[in-house]
Amino acid sequence: MVSKNISPVDMDKMVSLCKRRGYIFQSSELYGGLASCWDYGPLGVELKKNIKNAWWKYMVQERDDVAGVDASILMHPQVWAASGHVESFTDPLVECKTCHKRFRLDEVREEGHCPSCDGELTPPRQFNLMFKTLMGPVEQEADTIYLRPETCQGIFVNFQNILVSSRKKIPFGIAQIGKAFRNEISPGNFIFRSHEFEQMEMEYFVKPGTDEKWLQYWLEQRLNWYTGLGIKKEHVRLRQHGTEELAHYARDCYDVEYLFPMGWSELEGIANRGDYDLSQHSKFSGKELKYFDEESNEHFIPYSIEPSAGVDRSALAFLLDSYAEEKDKEGIRVILHLHPALAPVKVAVLPLSKKENLVKMTQDIHSELRRCWTVQYDDAQSIGRRYRRQDEIGTPFCVTIDFQSMEDNQVTLRDRESMNQIRLPRQNLASVLAAKLGGEPFDILPSGASKVESKQS
Ligand code: GAP
Repeated sequence: MVSKNISPVDMDKMVSLCKRRGYIFQSSELYGGLASCWDYGPLGVELKKNIKNAWWKYMVQERDDVAGVDASILMHPQVWAASGHVESFTDPLVECKTCHKRFRLDEVREEGHCPSCDGELTPPRQFNLMFKTLMGPVEQEADTIYLRPETCQGIFVNFQNILVSSRKKIPFGIAQIGKAFRNEISPGNFIFRSHEFEQMEMEYFVKPGTDEKWLQYWLEQRLNWYTGLGIKKEHVRLRQHGTEELAHYARDCYDVEYLFPMGWSELEGIANRGDYDLSQHSKFSGKELKYFDEESNEHFIPYSIEPSAGVDRSALAFLLDSYAEEKDKEGIRVILHLHPALAPVKVAVLPLSKKENLVKMTQDIHSELRRCWTVQYDDAQSIGRRYRRQDEIGTPFCVTIDFQSMEDNQVTLRDRESMNQIRLPRQNLASVLAAKLGGEPFDILPSGASKVESKQS
């Protein structure tokens, strides 16, 4: 069967599928929507959770050299002065003198006039992308704080705390997943660029002089993460920044780019930040942020290598890359070939009819399986329609319970990719699924069971 993958062509179909099936909705749609802010529905929230879990497993859980942190979104305003964001986190902005639409300078540089109405543009002025808010009951400038525009500053300011409490030795990393906010001048392309988004960032602290080697290491690791979760190799590439493009903190930087419908665009940034951040925080706080290397008996400020990924951009890439349409005798079958680790629903359980005993057996199986995985029960419409619905949201497996099941206690397991169906004993279902999906079939207490109290001696 030839599978026609539409990525990187069609964003509109993706937006429509996401809304129709409960992946992603426009924020505050009821009130006409809030531009470039998005709400994740029942399936979207599972997808995002799975992406974050897959990142955390790969970057933290499966390694000895990376520890986690969950820092506050609101931070001391001096953090953003030290990091350079107050001064340098700006985009040059121009405004049309006729229609008053605003653009980033790089969007209109070639035309030199308003792309919307051809009007004359104002000279560029610097526009800071940080959202400001006030802490405390009195509105005064001194109480201004910022919504963090990147999560990694929560890592840098906790460098000493984590070094001392975890007793890590260099090279080691600190990882964080969390929300970030940017007052983007030109947000858009669905969830690609929005005002509120989530980042998955890791600072890998290394001895100066070894930084280039570690940058290469993390480039490879990060590419492997995307392709290991199903992104096609030909849809992802690395692009090194030119010197004029480097952020104020970066000595070197690569973008992991994905072939989005609007063309190759940044999916993740991987930067060599040198000792910029720790030096700046040391200078602004007056506290030393050095590492003592027992081997060489010297103190130094480590360099950091930073893989910085977006949860929302990753979600978009995984959705686009897995979308396919297949022709069969009943028409077009839409399918998300999502990696099982990312699929929002792992298993659907479907009684062939709504007869009471079939429903009862299906519900029992549902209760049993959902202790381990996200499982959906569906008894509406024909079995063919139900399979299609599950294919469209990327569910890897369907279990069908039919009249024969009542007699022989066997069920049918259908595989999304091959559409092959096998019969197997009901009691083997959980372990067969565990082998296919990963995870233990009964790794938690049966419902109703209580833990044995430990005896005090
Ligand atoms: N700490 C470095 C940093 O924040 P960045 O390249 O500005 O670097 C890293 O952002 C990643 O965060 C991007 O590659 C992208 O995945 C995500 N990201 C940045 N701005 C975004 C936005 N406005 N909307 C959605 N994702 C965004």
